[in-house]
Amino acid sequence: MVKKLIIDCDPGIDDAVALCMALFDPRLDVLAITSTAGNVESSQASKNVQTIVESLDPPRWPRLGTAPEGLFVGHANAKQIHGNDGLGNFNSQLSRLHHQHPSEKVITDVVRNAPGQVTVLCLGPLTNLALAFSRDPDLASMIDRVVIMGGSISGVGNVTATAEYNMFCDPEAAQTVFRSLVTKTLVPLEVSQQLTFNLSMLDELPDASTRAGNFLRNVLPFLFRSYRQVYGLEGIHLHDVVALIAALHPEFFETQDMAGDVETNGSLTRGATVFDRRSRPEWRINLEVAMKLDKQAVRDAIRESIRYAGQLTR
Ligand code: BDR
Ligand code: CA
Repeated sequence: MVKKLIIDCDPGIDDAVALCMALFDPRLDVLAITSTAGNVESSQASKNVQTIVESLDPPRWPRLGTAPEGLFVGHANAKQIHGNDGLGNFNSQLSRLHHQHPSEKVITDVVRNAPGQVTVLCLGPLTNLALAFSRDPDLASMIDRVVIMGGSISGVGNVTATAEYNMFCDPEAAQTVFRSLVTKTLVPLEVSQQLTFNLSMLDELPDASTRAGNFLRNVLPFLFRSYRQVYGLEGIHLHDVVALIAALHPEFFETQDMAGDVETNGSLTRGATVFDRRSRPEWRINLEVAMKLDKQAVRDAIRESIRYAGQLTR
C-alpha cells in the first residue's frame, strides 16, 4: 500500500537526499514538504525546500510549507557541515518563493484531510509539529505515526557533549512532541550512525544527465569534504535518509518501547534525550525507539530508492 507522508525538514544535505529519494519512491505519496529552521535559518530553509523540488521537478508536486520566522536563531551552527546555504553551496537559480502557507498550517490541513492515514517524517527540529499540536490539540490522535530523526540513547550528542542537533535546536518543541499522545518512532544518532557511506557512493549516483543525478552530484561532495575537515572521517552519515527508510521499511529496524523525555533547562544537558531505563520504570512508555538496523537491507533500500529517482528524472 502507498504510504501518505508529510516530510518536515531543515535542508541540510542529508535532508535533501531524503527528499530526492522520497519524491520518486512508488511506495510513497509525499503530500507535503514543510520547512523549519535548523541547519539553516527559516527563510533559507523555505528557499531550499523549493529549490530542491524545482530542481527535481517530480511528476506531482507536494504542498510546500514555509518555516516560521524568528522562533529560535542560530542556536547551533551547522554551516560548516552543510555549507552556508545548507545545500553545500548549491548555486540556486530560485527567483522567488511561490505563494506558500505556514508549515504548521499545512501539516494540520493535510492530516485533517486524511485522518489516521498520514505519517509525518520529522528530519529537523520539532518546532512545526509542536506548533501544530498547540494550534489543534486533536491533531495528535489523527496522525498515523510520527517518525523522528533525533536524540541519543547513550547520552552522547553530536552538537554538544549530550545533545543531538535536532533536539538541541528546539528542546521545548521536542519535549511537547515527546509528551504528546501521538504514536512515535525515534531514530536516534546511534542508529543513523550505524551506516557509513564512503566515496564510492558518488560513483554509483544516477547519471548527471538526470535531474536527480545532477542534483545529488552537486550537493553530496560537500558533505564528504566537511566530514573529513570537521570530523576527520573519510565517510559520511546520512541521518535523515536512515529515518526515511525507517518510515518506509520498519521491518529493517529492531525497536524497543521506551519512556523518553527531553531536557530543556540543563546548562550542560539542554536538548539531551533522557530515558527511564530503571528496572522498575516510573515513566509511561511513549516512544518506539530504533536500536539497531539491518545494514545490508537498509543500504540496498537506499540504493534502490536513489535508482528510482534517477530513472524517473531522465
Ligand atoms: C541531524 O542534524 C542535522 O544536521 C541533520 O540534517 C540531521 O537531521 C543529525 O543530528
Ligand atoms: Ca535534518
